[in-house]
Amino acid sequence: MKFSSLLLMGAIGVLGAGCSSLEHSRNLADPTVPAPVLAQQVCSLCHGIDGNSVSPIFPRLAGQTPDYIVAQLTNFRTHQRSDPPGYEYMWGIARHLTDDQIKGLAAYFNQQVPVPNAAVSAEQMAAGKQIFENGVPEKLAAPCGACHGPQAQGTGPFPKLAGQHQDYLVKQLHVFQETEQRPGTPMEQITHLLTHQEMQAVAGYLQAFPSAQ
Ligand code: HEC
Ligand code: HEC
Repeated sequence: MKFSSLLLMGAIGVLGAGCSSLEHSRNLADPTVPAPVLAQQVCSLCHGIDGNSVSPIFPRLAGQTPDYIVAQLTNFRTHQRSDPPGYEYMWGIARHLTDDQIKGLAAYFNQQVPVPNAAVSAEQMAAGKQIFENGVPEKLAAPCGACHGPQAQGTGPFPKLAGQHQDYLVKQLHVFQETEQRPGTPMEQITHLLTHQEMQAVAGYLQAFPSAQ
């Protein structure tokens, strides 16, 4: 059995078991459980208690913009976001969350303090910085910073990218480029202009973003 399924069964297993207050507090189908309790008892298993996940399978959420977190949890709940790790891990989690719980979860993770992520090679830093700040002018690809903010800090619906795991970013760039699993965003068009190597470089730069140090 895959690691992912085991974790999910662990998270979901407690739903059916007993009625101690800890188990109650982990109940994803109970609209009265406060968001910070869900964040610390459930989301923490994968995203880290402070939103600074270690494994690149799990995106970091610390300091992420509230609007973006609300949008993604809603997209998982309505199945609009359907990339395979999204439905394997997040559809079940988001299914019964209320709008108020989603807002509370977004506030909780937005308030967590991001910690710096691992460094990448100087070569990737230099190539990635170029793309982040200037885009790829000969292909008319817009600079990432124009939407995601000059510090990649995100704003409103534009996610924070600074400090996010390189592998997660590259995976999502390919989802936008090659699939309809995250539809209706400017990223579809932008990623069509990027090569895999350019994605690797800009994602490496973002993981090790200078201001996160
Ligand atoms: C069993 C592991 C697991 C648990 C528990 C979990 N998540 Fe996730 N979450 C994931 C994975 C894996 C992804 C990445 C999905 C993908 O690659 O599309 C993800 C993605 C997300 C995203 C999108 C992030 C982005 O940058 O686009 C948000 C927001 C999120 N989770 C919030 C939560 C919240 C809030 C909880 C608790 C209520 C939670 N997750 C619990 C595994 C988990
Ligand atoms: C015109 C505005 C715009 C530009 C320019 C732009 N983005 Fe985005 N980007 C967005 C929006 C909006 C989203 C949120 C998509 C969603 O809601 O699913 C996003 C999402 C992303 C995500 C998914 C993040 C996650 O946590 O899952 C990545 C990765 C990303 N952008 C990287 C880039 C890179 C790299 C560049 C530059 C090459 C770039 N973006 C340029 C608007 C933009």
